[in-house]
Amino acid sequence: MSQHTPRHFLSLADIHAGELRDILDEAHRRKKARAGFAKAQPDSDAPLSGHVLAMLFEKSSTRTRFSFEVGMMQLGGTSITTSADDMQLGRGESIEDTAKVLSRFVDGIMLRANDHNALVALAQNATVPVINGLTDYNHPCQIMADLMTLEEQGRDLKDLRLAWVGDGNNVAMSFINGAAKFGYQLVISTPKGYGPSSQMVERARAEGAQIDLIDDPLAACKNVDVVVADTWVSMGDTDIDKRMRDLGDWQVNDALMDVAAKDALFLHCLPAHRGEEVAASVIDGKQSVVFDEAENRLHAQKAILKWCLDK
Ligand code: CP
Ligand code: NVA
Repeated sequence: MSQHTPRHFLSLADIHAGELRDILDEAHRRKKARAGFAKAQPDSDAPLSGHVLAMLFEKSSTRTRFSFEVGMMQLGGTSITTSADDMQLGRGESIEDTAKVLSRFVDGIMLRANDHNALVALAQNATVPVINGLTDYNHPCQIMADLMTLEEQGRDLKDLRLAWVGDGNNVAMSFINGAAKFGYQLVISTPKGYGPSSQMVERARAEGAQIDLIDDPLAACKNVDVVVADTWVSMGDTDIDKRMRDLGDWQVNDALMDVAAKDALFLHCLPAHRGEEVAASVIDGKQSVVFDEAENRLHAQKAILKWCLDK
């Protein structure tokens, strides 16, 4: 059994700003250091040599799965990926027992869960670090990659005003948590009934986050440096037709990008639905950095893994 409390990565809200800053710096450093390497070639220092990560998915994934698997290879370690349904978890074994058993086999566990409480229960019962690969509540690894992408574009996070347009969902929540840690200003524009948890907004504000809630998407995007969209229908949402109707006026299109700053960037965690939350002209246009953003999942998560495993 481990003698100390593992370093979990469950929510940006739980982690000290200085540590998150260090993780981003490490991500930039490591990405630069392996320029020209073959994709599966380990980094020169291979800090996770001899280590294994378990990855459990209760929902679909492309980016999270591939970036963590390749990330472990590049760190010199290995990984085991499974859907939760293929485990005894899917037949009713408790998350608590699963945590205790997996902790005997692996050095870290990444979980993509339907219910954030399952992630917390896993972490409370694991003796190895647990990483949030997305829950209904938040998606912290995504925001680390997003912020890394903005910095690569030469932006200083403290100078930025970001507009989130659409559903106040799990990804929006991590942008809220991140605002308190990294000092960017955040404007959130959602239809009524789709706003983020006011409790979490208040918590972030109490920690110094500057967050404005502005209903009108055009007003929200005025002069912003970054516009962010995400799907109107997250995994687990069942009210699809209602969402399409209610969110229809919150599409990020040229009209919104035109009122943003001239050099504004567009972010989307992907998968995207062109013609719904974003116009094709925006996501496939010059201001979009969505594929750098996707690639940076790899680099940001390698730094998160290294931090969690204290290497
Ligand atoms: N952005 C993201 O988490 O993508 P996946 O669902 O494909 O992992
Ligand atoms: N909000 C989306 C993000 C997917 C990466 C979802 O939860 O489905």
